[in-house]
Amino acid sequence: MNDFTFDDYKTMIEDHIMDFMPDVDLKSITLYEAMKYSISAGGKQIRPVLLLAACDFCGGKAAEALPYACAVEYIHTYSLIHDDLPCMDDDDLRRGIPTNHKVFGEAVATLAGDGLQSVAYEVMQKDMLLYFDDPDALKRKIKAALEIVKGAGVKGIVAGQIADIEAENKSVSKELLDYIHLTKTAALIVAAVRAGARLGGCSEHDLENLTVYAENLGLAFQVCDDILDVEGNAEIMGKQTGMDAEKMKATYPALYGIEESRKKLKQLTDNAINALSEYYDNAELFVKLAGELATRAS
Ligand code: FPP
Ligand code: MG
Repeated sequence: MNDFTFDDYKTMIEDHIMDFMPDVDLKSITLYEAMKYSISAGGKQIRPVLLLAACDFCGGKAAEALPYACAVEYIHTYSLIHDDLPCMDDDDLRRGIPTNHKVFGEAVATLAGDGLQSVAYEVMQKDMLLYFDDPDALKRKIKAALEIVKGAGVKGIVAGQIADIEAENKSVSKELLDYIHLTKTAALIVAAVRAGARLGGCSEHDLENLTVYAENLGLAFQVCDDILDVEGNAEIMGKQTGMDAEKMKATYPALYGIEESRKKLKQLTDNAINALSEYYDNAELFVKLAGELATRAS
């Protein structure tokens, strides 16, 4: 693996995130403005960075993975826009600025989410069209796109979202809580890592280890989010806090309490890091990211 840091990859994404946005007709300029509003609002870019890093880690070239990395960020951003809608979690603040529907209205925000999702698939398929003469590369790209589509789909974040909504105001089992977190949050993180690994031409062994890393990181990510919602300030989060309790959401702090949640976060972080122990310093970016995430909520 090279010496690129998280910030190096993040800069790559930020430099190219608008490259794949389609030119729109003047008549649909509102749609474009609404999509651009949320895309350029300054997300942490964790998923696309993971995709690029996994691609490099497995021997590929990050630059060639950019369309897939941006596709993951488009999908993630669409999911946040829809999650914030009044018919979902009804939030006013995201990424430190008013939510999409607060600025553009519910109808436009819904369509901006739809638009971003379709752009994601378009970007990946356009890239595949360039590789008809290279069947091995084409195969890697098809497999990568499938990982992303699955993570975004009815066994991924869409399944998680409906389970999350249906669990509101109910007491849920530990199994259901894990299912919600694995689907609504970990699924797209796992998809990003696996897609990057596929693009890099990973071995089955490396894919397995990276998947264990990503599942644990994804769960840790949501536990951290849950803890910060109880304890964090809106500035760190870029969104209103205390909302989970208000909506009686199924969260780790609600089911286990804060101290147990912190222990769970530590255990998940350790699991993630241990999954990559055989790679020593080569997995530094992944290990560092898991560690930094855990300290956000400690
Ligand atoms: C914050 O990510 C997002 C999560 C913790 C995931 C929550 C899951 C959903 C909202 C699922 C929604 C699904 C549908 C289908 C509507 P982040 O902290 O990386 O955010 P950032 O990109 O703003 O930094
Ligand atoms: Mg939600």
